[in-house]
Amino acid sequence: MLQKSLGARTKFLNWHGSECQLFVTEPELIKEILMNREGAFPKMDMVGYAKKLLGEALITNEGEKWAKIRKLANHTFHAESLKSMVPEMSSSVAIMLERWKNYDGEEIDVFKEFGLLTTEVISRTAFGSSYMDGKHVFEMVAKLTALTVRNQYKVKIPGISMLLKKSDDEVEAERLEKSIKSSILEIAKQRKNMKEGDNFGSDYLGQLVKISHESDVKKRITIDQMIDEIRTIYGAGHLTTTSLLGWCIFLLAINTEWQDKSREEVNRTFGKNSPDSDGIARLKIMNMIINECLRLYPPVLTVTRKVAKEVKLGDLCLPPKMNIFISILALHHNPQIWGKDVHLFRPERFEGGVAKATNNNGAAFLPFGLGPRTCVGLNFTTNEAKIALSMILQKYKFVLSPNYVHYPADVFLLTPKNGVQVILKKI
Ligand code: HEM
Repeated sequence: MLQKSLGARTKFLNWHGSECQLFVTEPELIKEILMNREGAFPKMDMVGYAKKLLGEALITNEGEKWAKIRKLANHTFHAESLKSMVPEMSSSVAIMLERWKNYDGEEIDVFKEFGLLTTEVISRTAFGSSYMDGKHVFEMVAKLTALTVRNQYKVKIPGISMLLKKSDDEVEAERLEKSIKSSILEIAKQRKNMKEGDNFGSDYLGQLVKISHESDVKKRITIDQMIDEIRTIYGAGHLTTTSLLGWCIFLLAINTEWQDKSREEVNRTFGKNSPDSDGIARLKIMNMIINECLRLYPPVLTVTRKVAKEVKLGDLCLPPKMNIFISILALHHNPQIWGKDVHLFRPERFEGGVAKATNNNGAAFLPFGLGPRTCVGLNFTTNEAKIALSMILQKYKFVLSPNYVHYPADVFLLTPKNGVQVILKKI
């Protein structure tokens, strides 16, 4: 392993079989990579299990194919459209809290609960259906994710792997990929049959079905792409938010002074009412808490790119096809950026905003990435988290259960492997 160290700033090369990976943790270089608009650092090629999981869609595509869907997704998951989703999100949280109503002084695993909540929210808002309608797709995506995680460090030797018999996991992954595709196709067909003419509905599903029927070939997407785009949102749209909410409740359960501050702000803003979009935008303390949670426990740990053709990066000359790994976790835990208390939960560091917290270092805090490929669900997920946290804080105080075992694990996303058990106390 070749390592070039500049104090706490480190970049190093790692060989994963025949694949060369450059790990980068320096904000200036990360900015150069993620903000590049000349196509010098496109998305890394997906192979094997990851390709089956992510398909060829918004997260992985480049060029025209990407731009077409990004525009559509921007429209669905931004500002005005999000306002209309607030009542749907609140109703989904209310359903969850209804399940909690007999929990007073009792232990509950909120991480499990958030898994159900976030699938319900994405089903209602993006696909106009309930969780139950897409339940089998979520379950199959979860199984495929587990297979991807189990096999992520397996090395494939070019040429030789093709001669070997497929492993049980590979066979199962192929079966799941096919079943996910045919179930999604069924969901899209139902939408097409339900609607008259070319009005397929204003949600994400409706918009994707619509452009798969465009008469103008340049605007149209293929049925396969439509399926992959829907599958992407089934995956990206809920596990990430589940992780964020799980870590937020964990941190608030052990930092009860911040729980009280946040509850006081929520009561001041909404009283006993459901959250509304104007109030959500004013939740300053909750915003600081969420940012600090995303800093300490970023759900997406690493962002990857590849080198398109020979390019200079800082003092390095990178050859084509080299893969680049950007560690968000390393950035967020760098004491040179965040100070000696880097590992402590201190939401007050975000009091003056992200720029102040990072000393105007725009690439030091990247839970949602940076540049043109920044997370399209950023506002969606923070709105959802704020609504869920507000409604929980309005009804409950909570502390960590003695049964909780701290086990943050990298299972595609940073996840509390043993769940998050808290003791709820009704207010
Ligand atoms: C806490 C929650 C979330 C986190 C931490 C997160 C993180 C990220 C990050 C780091 C990226 C950039 C990846 C890169 O540059 O390679 C990204 C991209 C993306 N995210 Fe999220 N995400 C979250 C929630 C969501 C949600 C709720 C959705 C969907 C509703 C979503 C959909 C996407 C999509 C489609 C992309 C690809 C965008 C593109 O390449 O143009 N994410 N996310």
